[in-house]
Amino acid sequence: MLIDTYGRVATDLRVSLTDRCNLRCTYCMPEEGLQWLAKPDLLTDDEIVRLIAIAVRDLGIEEVRFTGGEPLLRPGLVGIVERVAALTPRPKMSLTTNGIGLQRTAAALRDAGLDRVNVSLDTLRPDVFQAMTRRKRHDDVLRGLEAAREAGLTPVKVNAVLMPGLNDDEAPDLLAWAIAQDYELRFIEQMPLDAQHGWKRDGMITAGDILASLRTRFELTPEGQDERGSAPAERWQVDGGPHRVGVIASVTRPFCRACDRTRLTADGQVRTCLFATEETDLRTALRSGAPDEEIARIWKRAMWGKKAGSGLDDPSFLQPERPMSSIGG
Ligand code: GTP
Ligand code: 5AD
Ligand code: SF4
Repeated sequence: MLIDTYGRVATDLRVSLTDRCNLRCTYCMPEEGLQWLAKPDLLTDDEIVRLIAIAVRDLGIEEVRFTGGEPLLRPGLVGIVERVAALTPRPKMSLTTNGIGLQRTAAALRDAGLDRVNVSLDTLRPDVFQAMTRRKRHDDVLRGLEAAREAGLTPVKVNAVLMPGLNDDEAPDLLAWAIAQDYELRFIEQMPLDAQHGWKRDGMITAGDILASLRTRFELTPEGQDERGSAPAERWQVDGGPHRVGVIASVTRPFCRACDRTRLTADGQVRTCLFATEETDLRTALRSGAPDEEIARIWKRAMWGKKAGSGLDDPSFLQPERPMSSIGG
């Protein structure tokens, strides 16, 4: 079991498969991209599957989420999903993607054993999409979303970040669209995890702003957190149901006390928190021939050192060195 000194148990593992991305969302990375991890530093497919096997067999992990960068850019993705689906016990498996390429891969991913996907889409307007992601790929995302729904990778969740002056007037339109398309929409407060360190608290759209904007067109009734009670989204029923909307308010209503996550970066480092400033190296142990028990021990020790919270409200808060795109969200 992965337990920390505050009694929290991690049952959810987020695995970043690559730090690369084919978009350049302004709240995430600069136009020119970042210094990508070097190939030899990345875990191989075999190494990733071995770590996940240890996590589900020896450490109590029940759900594995693949992230990036953009995880569809990882050539071995379908094979990794297939091998994880064959583990005992078989973990639930999900993917967080920007949707580009999903049209081609959704059916293969489902056949390999993936259960569901979350797709990032901030706007319904192609010109705003281009301003926010610096790429003309709006249509690819919409087609990827449809392919996921058709493949049964459901519930398909859509993640939207609102940015002042760009898409902050779009919350009700996004919700009406998501309901019509049968996607579960969640708004995410912008977090200080961008590579450019451009985040400003007074420049972000808060959960309060988002709810007020939605309430101009919809009636929202609180539904609480999801089945597991730990997922970051607080949820509201829309106009009496059955549709709902979520808000992930990491900044203004942090949920660290219920956190059930551990993270693995594409270069084999354990992070106990999105905002952790320290990491624990598993790759060196893996590559020096450590047995499974030793790796499980290192991971447990890392978890024991998990901090109480993100520290966002501390005056001494420092943004982690590793940007969002390399942590995996
Ligand atoms: P499900 O609701 O189970 O589908 O997962 P999720 O919402 O956790 O996953 P997703 O990858 O879609 O992430 C949505 C947003 O939640 C992203 O901005 C993540 O960075 C954020 N998030 C995920 N886990 C954590 C966490 O432990 N702490 C904080 N503060 N944010 C998180
Ligand atoms: N703050 C909040 N959400 C972010 N995402 C990427 N960067 C940030 C940020 N700085 C979102 C993406 C994706 C999810 C994994 O995290 O849009 O939906
Ligand atoms: Fe890519 Fe996701 Fe960062 Fe956008 S937020 S640039 S989709 S890694």
